[in-house]
Amino acid sequence: MLRIVVLVSGGGTNLQAIIDSISNGKITNTKLCGVISNKKDAYALLRAEKAGVPGVSVSKKDYASGEQFHEALLAAIDSFSPDLVVLAGFLVILPKQLVEKYEGRIINIHPSLIPSFCGDGFYGLHVHEAVLARGVKVTGATVHFVDSGTDTGSILLQKAVSVQPGDTPEVLQRRVMEEAEWNILPAAIDGIANGRFKKDANGNYYMEEK
Ligand code: GAR
Repeated sequence: MLRIVVLVSGGGTNLQAIIDSISNGKITNTKLCGVISNKKDAYALLRAEKAGVPGVSVSKKDYASGEQFHEALLAAIDSFSPDLVVLAGFLVILPKQLVEKYEGRIINIHPSLIPSFCGDGFYGLHVHEAVLARGVKVTGATVHFVDSGTDTGSILLQKAVSVQPGDTPEVLQRRVMEEAEWNILPAAIDGIANGRFKKDANGNYYMEEK
């Protein structure tokens, strides 16, 4: 059984996709042990509560220094003894000690096709604003392992989504979530839980079919 903890900052629609996928069997061999939010009022915490999953908030505001906040965040994660840490809209740069301790055991969902529209400043709606400003016709989402850089870790899964004439950032964000994020994040967790990720000759990951 893969023990996962999900880190969130906001609405938690990706968290909901994980909860639903565990209950409908799209994700197997996985236990959602806890949800951690850096925002006390995140709607994601209510989603966790409704699903009967322990939720914890670790807010920077409650600590005298960034270092203390980072220690508390790491302690909260450790308290669930997870095999995998899932960043699902967690808009905090991870402390170095966390990335090092959980190396190869942290994944993130990013709302673009990495390496486009990623890195510093590219998060949430800003990604979709940049996509529309540049005029690309295809965007999407990426699930990747987290390393010490921003959005630089090995790619696990990606899914393309069309940009449509007249899209606003909000409309595009919703389409990317519905068509890509809510599918590939649960699929990646299921793939990890069931040992289906392999490496190709270039050292890149691919997922074996079920
Ligand atoms: C999602 O679109 C996720 O891809 C994005 O934040 C949103 C969270 O929505 N994450 C990033 O931009 C990370 N760089 P949610 O709270 O409804 O899942």
